[in-house]
Amino acid sequence: MSIINTRPVVLTGDRTTGPLHLGHYVGSLKNRLALQDDHSQFLLLADAQALTDNADDPGRIRRNVIEVALDYLAVGIDPEKSVICVQSRLPALAELTMLYMNYVTVSRLERNPTVKQEIVQRGFQRDIPAGFLCYPVAQAADITAFKAGLVPVGEDQLPMIEQTNEIVRRVNRQVGREVLPEARALVSSVGRLPGIDGRSKMSKSAGNAIPLSAMPQEISAAVQAMFTDPDHLRVSDPGRVEGNVVFTYLDAFDDRPDELEDLKAHYRRGGLGDMVLKGRLDARLQALFAPIRERRATFAQRPDFVLDLVRSGTKRAAALTQETLNEVRAALGLFSFGRERP
Ligand code: TRP
Repeated sequence: MSIINTRPVVLTGDRTTGPLHLGHYVGSLKNRLALQDDHSQFLLLADAQALTDNADDPGRIRRNVIEVALDYLAVGIDPEKSVICVQSRLPALAELTMLYMNYVTVSRLERNPTVKQEIVQRGFQRDIPAGFLCYPVAQAADITAFKAGLVPVGEDQLPMIEQTNEIVRRVNRQVGREVLPEARALVSSVGRLPGIDGRSKMSKSAGNAIPLSAMPQEISAAVQAMFTDPDHLRVSDPGRVEGNVVFTYLDAFDDRPDELEDLKAHYRRGGLGDMVLKGRLDARLQALFAPIRERRATFAQRPDFVLDLVRSGTKRAAALTQETLNEVRAALGLFSFGRERP
């Protein structure tokens, strides 16, 4: 039997709306790097979900499928260990979504906190695309189709896992046995990374993100523009550490916690300038980004290799997800010609 059946299964995904950024790195990619050695890990290029709030720009979604795959490879996702696949090319996911929609209510979907928040952010008001309202059901299909036990995601995705498990319990109750496993979220210990403006979480649309493909000058410019303490006017003034984005980032990326504690104390007392801190953070980020940039360039030179890798990953995922769909159909006792043949 293959590795897939013996190792714990991890599934996660990213909407292919644009390049991944530093927030994705601390929120989820870092966990995936750690998990790929002893888990059976699947990474979903979630182009179908991306369409649920970008129906007017399918071209952007298509172009970013391979870009996000390149981001995965750039941070060190090893295609020998992790399977990268394209959501919209896995028809079993769509079929499972249709089945699961009967085990969730519209009002429950409307109460999903992430969906609620996104409706406001997107300005949908009363014109909510049905596909958008139902994307948590599709995400439940993603997670369960792979029989994933562990889902590394950012904090904002916790309601999705909750909703998934409700559907799992509802389906299991219907069929009278555990045809689907429940899943657990794995949230990064660092928590959500604020954008460089310190106002909200890092996101491309807010214009406060550092993309993983950033060039050295772009990184330095972002660090220079970072929000610190607006009342820390002179070097000699006492400064605030809380809410100071540079310190939040140093907490996430500096590997010398002892030195960092001294710096915080010094900053609070006064006498430590923002420039010193920013210089330190810049050096840490440059060191983190350099190998990522290098790997990205190497893979970008081999587009056919990357495409083949995603194609074969998708093929593997298609077989696996189809198997789960067959099990669910059989468990529910839906019509069959006697033998499950494609
Ligand atoms: N909703 C996730 C996001 O916006 C992307 C996603 C799609 C996902 N399918 C998933 C995450 C399955 C975890 C598991 O980032």
